[in-house]
Amino acid sequence: MCGIVAYTGYREAYPLIIKGLKRLEYRGYDSAGIALLNGGLRIYKKKGKVSELEESLKNLPLSGNIGLGHTRWATHGEPNDVNAHPHYSSDRKLAIIHNGIIENYDALKKELVNRGHVFLSETDSEVLIHFIEDIQVNSQCSLEEAVRLALHRIVGAYAIVILAQDASNQLIAARKGSPLVIGIGKANGPASEYFLASDATPIIEYTNEVVYLKDHEIAVIRDHQLSIKNIDDVPTTPYVQTLAMELESIEKGGYEHFMLKEIFEQPRSVYDSMRGRVNSKQGYLLLGGLREHLGRVAKAPRIIIVGCGTSWHAGLVAEYLFEEFARIPVEVEYASEFRYRNPVVNEGDVVVAISQSGETADTLAAIELAKAKGAFIFGVCNVVGSSIPRASHAGAYTHAGPEIGVASTKAFTAQVSVLAMMAIILANERGTISKGLFYQLLVELEAIPDKIDQVLQRSTRKVQHIANTFKDASNFLYLGRGYNFPVALEGALKLKEISYIHAEGYPAAEMKHGPIALIDEAMPVVFIATRDSSYEKIVSNIQEVRARKGRVIAVVTEGEQLISQMAEFVIEIPVAHEALMPLISVIPLQLLSYSIAVMRGCHVDQPRNLAKSVTVE
Ligand code: M6R
Repeated sequence: MCGIVAYTGYREAYPLIIKGLKRLEYRGYDSAGIALLNGGLRIYKKKGKVSELEESLKNLPLSGNIGLGHTRWATHGEPNDVNAHPHYSSDRKLAIIHNGIIENYDALKKELVNRGHVFLSETDSEVLIHFIEDIQVNSQCSLEEAVRLALHRIVGAYAIVILAQDASNQLIAARKGSPLVIGIGKANGPASEYFLASDATPIIEYTNEVVYLKDHEIAVIRDHQLSIKNIDDVPTTPYVQTLAMELESIEKGGYEHFMLKEIFEQPRSVYDSMRGRVNSKQGYLLLGGLREHLGRVAKAPRIIIVGCGTSWHAGLVAEYLFEEFARIPVEVEYASEFRYRNPVVNEGDVVVAISQSGETADTLAAIELAKAKGAFIFGVCNVVGSSIPRASHAGAYTHAGPEIGVASTKAFTAQVSVLAMMAIILANERGTISKGLFYQLLVELEAIPDKIDQVLQRSTRKVQHIANTFKDASNFLYLGRGYNFPVALEGALKLKEISYIHAEGYPAAEMKHGPIALIDEAMPVVFIATRDSSYEKIVSNIQEVRARKGRVIAVVTEGEQLISQMAEFVIEIPVAHEALMPLISVIPLQLLSYSIAVMRGCHVDQPRNLAKSVTVE
């Protein structure tokens, strides 16, 4: 969490940094701040969003060609002006921005307090810059050397950038566990420019040439030159990548919110996730990242899927897919639990790690644990070049394009698409599905983008009407069975995270073991009741809710008669193979949570207390 941006070059740094912070605000929006060399090293920071900081600075002459910026998701210390980043060293000659957590900050702080340091904030980040300063003063070494020595003693995760008053042409950056990208801008005569950020979105407007800093690397940009060394002072050669990301893909493109734009992008993003990988006419299905390792993955005695939040829900869908088609036993684990419970992982086991951002700390730690126990790691991620793909042995990108809204939408459908392809490939390799079913599934996969589009075109109005009816509800229940059970969980998660309405997702049959006690005339119950192998059973569950006066909203298959007579509202979606239905049935639930949140006046793209990328445990 937290977004960091820095710039050095020939442009005005302030507007560029503010714009970059706005692009990174999805990573945290508790406070924002910048540091500039503007007649000395000056820090300006404030609780609240980047726009509030900008407003407070609008009458100040902020000039200079070098600076830092930070948008915070609070970990140590409440969100307020003082805890906002950047932080000064005690002599106010150094400023730091930090994303991550310094786990041994308390011990370091005590050491420093004993040596006379006074701290203004409650943050771990302020401790780090004082520690660096302390080393520099006591060892009489360069700032670069002090950073290196300090980082040797740091336990935890960090992406940092440091600006020094006495070095008007220098930025020092380092990372371990938290992401940091360096953009290499165009030269302007003898001057060149560099951009540093938590991801490429603040950079892409200016350059698509980037270097992803690796763990334990320290980058120094001095006098228009970039040099990178590892923490043991050994120079490394930067690997410059050319990004394919377009600027339009990170802008709202006329939509009111990123979330809405991303919901409506799904016909395209699901298509992109399958482009070049599926061709039913040629009977062709290929995931490049799996091809080389197919023998090994197909022979796995067990697949363990790890992820968090929406990615964990995609993992649940994958469990059904892998078991049904490839007949491989699957366990789906919350990465945060898996990493701390000494799980049994055997050599030969395959761990599929799912993550939109590729930076989720719990998922990364689960990968490291599984790797240490001899598992083969297959990453399914959206952000190219992020930490999880780099930590995996192999993987497949989801190609959903940048997802900015904190509530995940198009990432989910892209993940499920890739996982469905993976399941069918494995099944084909293992001979556990017939050729006929293999071809049928390819045809069904190719039809999904169109079907998503139909749902978007036909159900948006109806969903808005339903949203208006239930926008003041205090609780919602989401029920589904089989492949639609993870969709129920996902629908409930979407509603609670952006509208702050309490919502529970359950397997419909579990309702009678407890949640049924909640049902009364005030309880909206969303059933995902498409025509599949558990259709009759879910019809009975709907009757059980009606008998207790619950208000039923049902997502059903086109032409549905029976449920239409029982439910207060139905939303029809196209027919699809049951195994691919989550790709379609989730769409009205995304629209419902979005519409309710907007009607309740909630901040859809930046819901309270959340951040897009959870890089702390
Ligand atoms: O980037 P990741 O997919 O690893 O993120 C996992 C969760 O933090 C994420 O899905 C979160 O639950 C979303 N806010 C859900 O909409």
